[in-house]
Amino acid sequence: MVPLEIVKTVSLLQLKQNELAQNESNLLQQAVEASSRAYAPHSKFYVGAALLLDNGIIVTGSNQENAAYPSGLCAERVALFKAGSDFPNAEVLMLAIFAKSDNYKVPEILCPCGGCLQVMSETENRQKKPFSILIQSETLILKANGVSQFLPFAFVI
Ligand code: THU
Repeated sequence: MVPLEIVKTVSLLQLKQNELAQNESNLLQQAVEASSRAYAPHSKFYVGAALLLDNGIIVTGSNQENAAYPSGLCAERVALFKAGSDFPNAEVLMLAIFAKSDNYKVPEILCPCGGCLQVMSETENRQKKPFSILIQSETLILKANGVSQFLPFAFVI
């Protein structure tokens, strides 16, 4: 018996700085600035996230670590929970992410961690609309149309 194969294709766009729209480069700049507010003495991996909401407000976040490691939180979730808590009815239009490190080489294709992807996925389900994701590493700018480009089979209930 041949098993049924369920296939989904994902795609990321690689953009140059001059191919970004004004609101995209502005949001990435906010993510870069947010990374300098990271509290990451343990990993020395500094992440910044910036969310553009449909009310025009930009909400930023940076990773916040703790000596009891699991008590810390990633930049993306800091920003998403901040937005959900302060603006529960606003829609997320775009998320920009930037990372730099003193300890590690930041991967060219910088992917948010599984926990952040799950939270991003729930934000899309909650607002019934995908949002675009821009990620800047040291060398590349990538754009994804929706979280499903990173998490094609998300847990949803
Ligand atoms: N980190 C983020 O902020 N976002 C991610 O998507 C992955 C990892 C943080 C968590 C921790 O403070 C540091 O990067 C190293 O894992």
